[in-house]
Amino acid sequence: MGRNMSNLSRKKYAVLEKFGISKVTDPNKAYQILIDSLALIVKNIDESNIREALCNALTDLGLPSESLHNVLDLVVKDITDRVRKVSYRMIVRYQFESQRLIESMYRKRIAAYFTKPFGTNLMSELTSVFVKNESRFSEGITLSDPFMGSGLTLTGAIQFMGREFVKRVWGVELHPLPAITGYSALLSLLDGDLKRVCVRCGDTFKEIWGRLSSLDKYNALGNYFEADVVLTNPPFTRWENLDEKYRRFLEKLIKVTGYSKYVHRKQLSLQVVAMFLIDSVLKDNGLLVSVLPSSTFYTIYGKAIKGLFRSKYDVLALVETKSVSFSTDSGFKEFIAICRKRKPLKSDLSAFITIESENNVDLRTLVQIILDRRISTDLKNMWINFINIHSLPKILDANWLILFGKDELRELAIKTIIKALNQGKLIEWKALLGKSSIVRGVEMYGPDFFLIPNKYWAITSVSNENVVICNKSSNEELELDREYLIPTLRKPSLYTNKIRVKPDHFFISIPPKDLHDLPSDLRKYVGWGISSGVVNVAVRAFGSKWYSHVHQQIIKKNPFGRLFLPDKIDVKFKSRGVFAVTTKEKATATKNFYILVRDSTKLVDILTLWFNSSIFLSLFIFGSRKISETWTRFLEDDYLNMPVPNINLAEKELIENIEDLIDELNSKTLPPLKHQFKEKYRYEIDLLISKILGISNPRQFVERLHTLLSEYINSN
Ligand SMILES: C[S@@+](CC[C@H](N)C(=O)[O-])C[C@H]1O[C@@H](n2cnc3c(N)ncnc32)[C@H](O)[C@@H]1O
Repeated sequence: MGRNMSNLSRKKYAVLEKFGISKVTDPNKAYQILIDSLALIVKNIDESNIREALCNALTDLGLPSESLHNVLDLVVKDITDRVRKVSYRMIVRYQFESQRLIESMYRKRIAAYFTKPFGTNLMSELTSVFVKNESRFSEGITLSDPFMGSGLTLTGAIQFMGREFVKRVWGVELHPLPAITGYSALLSLLDGDLKRVCVRCGDTFKEIWGRLSSLDKYNALGNYFEADVVLTNPPFTRWENLDEKYRRFLEKLIKVTGYSKYVHRKQLSLQVVAMFLIDSVLKDNGLLVSVLPSSTFYTIYGKAIKGLFRSKYDVLALVETKSVSFSTDSGFKEFIAICRKRKPLKSDLSAFITIESENNVDLRTLVQIILDRRISTDLKNMWINFINIHSLPKILDANWLILFGKDELRELAIKTIIKALNQGKLIEWKALLGKSSIVRGVEMYGPDFFLIPNKYWAITSVSNENVVICNKSSNEELELDREYLIPTLRKPSLYTNKIRVKPDHFFISIPPKDLHDLPSDLRKYVGWGISSGVVNVAVRAFGSKWYSHVHQQIIKKNPFGRLFLPDKIDVKFKSRGVFAVTTKEKATATKNFYILVRDSTKLVDILTLWFNSSIFLSLFIFGSRKISETWTRFLEDDYLNMPVPNINLAEKELIENIEDLIDELNSKTLPPLKHQFKEKYRYEIDLLISKILGISNPRQFVERLHTLLSEYINSN
């Protein structure tokens, strides 16, 4: 509480401290909210016996009523004063206000950004229609929010559908202030019925899963925390920001519960674990509506949630709005996922919904569309794509963000790619060539030593035997044997306008010999490396044989090939005319490239053409625009999942045509993509690729594709 303590009476401070209410910006206001919330609780339970009512409530909340015993003496008078004055409406106001009382750093850490009214209204409408449509809920539902904040999702839904539809409501919340406020609001809505309202103040994972030894046992016991409907907005705390011990605790729980099968490469985030927990409490056929950050749908850790959804849920819809965030003050791009827990059918379609303006949405119509999976009226203000998430090619599946919004270019490219995949004309790289066919280039510490030319050394001459380099300031010349030099592509920005390129750099590749066994000029170069300090990092990392770390990688990875794919690229293709480049002779590259380590000319040619074709570029461009940072960076797995032409099914004649075209292209300088659409070679590249993909009317297709792609590029 620190800096605001001076204005706070000793009593108030003691009370807040005992309740565990810390890290608030305005303790006086926090105290007022606490007292009013407790007063409304008392009013609803039993105002004739304030002490006992409070003890019951605090025990239910999981707050230690024994240690709070003395504090009760301090607050009973204040509460008594407020019981008559406090109203449900005041508490509703506090439900919104309490989040902003939490100190900003801590607020960020626990992600106390409550769902805004548009989100809670959508949740309420969905819950209401869902419950009223099903006769099995004649006695009402169990409703829950395992990360309930001040209970806005829950109170919104109860008010909207009517309290008679609620058999029981439960929630868990870490911060005591919103937890108590939410409890107060819920009790008030459900007539002070302690049996129907359960709010625990604590860590959800500890409260619900804490003592778990296996999920089967947990379920067999009859689960106290189970729900027909979960409405939530789980905390988006980054994994790295959780402390080590807590991460181990969560990892152990994931193992015990069997959810580890959904986790890829141990990449986690708190909302992934939250989704596992929610799955364990949600009953079959139950409804889950959750706010989720956009990263869920394109990162590796998000794959766990997508995998869980795909195997156990009918994903009815994902909703985005143009105002970006569904949570107050969060600023993150977020979505609302609406899922029903039941074994999905392979034919299930999911609605990817974009809402232009929240103010003008008829929620009833929207909910009807989501639950019926059918558009029955004219849509205003929104755009819906129905997508089968079970049949998406992996590379599209990697980023669900691209499935939103009206986009003819995407429609055309996706339709074409899916069709060609179904016909076997396109095939995943991994399936065609195997995982070992792609290698990332060499990583090095000290580019100004290990690559020549560099900041300090220029190349004077190159022969088959040696390369002469010259120091730019001292003019010293050194003659390095070719044996120690490997032709290398340094970075994609050096290769932007030619399909066939010549490596402009050499790696210095020195075997782990003693220095005196090396030729004298090379020894001098090594000496210069040390005295200039450019290799300090390498020396620190690798010790005495620091000069061999590039060589050792080269021996280990054998990173040689003739097709080079960038790891990161300017999505707008502003100054770029090519994507993949090829070399005549085998070469290597830095880690800024991925290398196809097969050198069959036919294969290299067909892939070179594919990775420069307008279909591939469309896939790349429309995929990039939503999350430029991430999508522009392709990882090895992205390439392995990439559809590529199935060379085994391509007609011989077409392959020959490709070879001719590549030869022809070798002499050309390709301007930035937007200037290529009037060029014959652009048309020919795409026509050949269309034929290889078996597109029925290839000329018409290419014209349409060019119109859409150039429109897109020129409009951005
Ligand atoms: C994004 S807010 C959502 C609150 C509420 N569900 C809503 O939609 O308004 C996430 C909430 O989770 C709480 N929280 C964070 N970590 C938690 C944990 N481990 N256990 C319980 N609650 C937690 C935060 O305090 C915060 O109130």
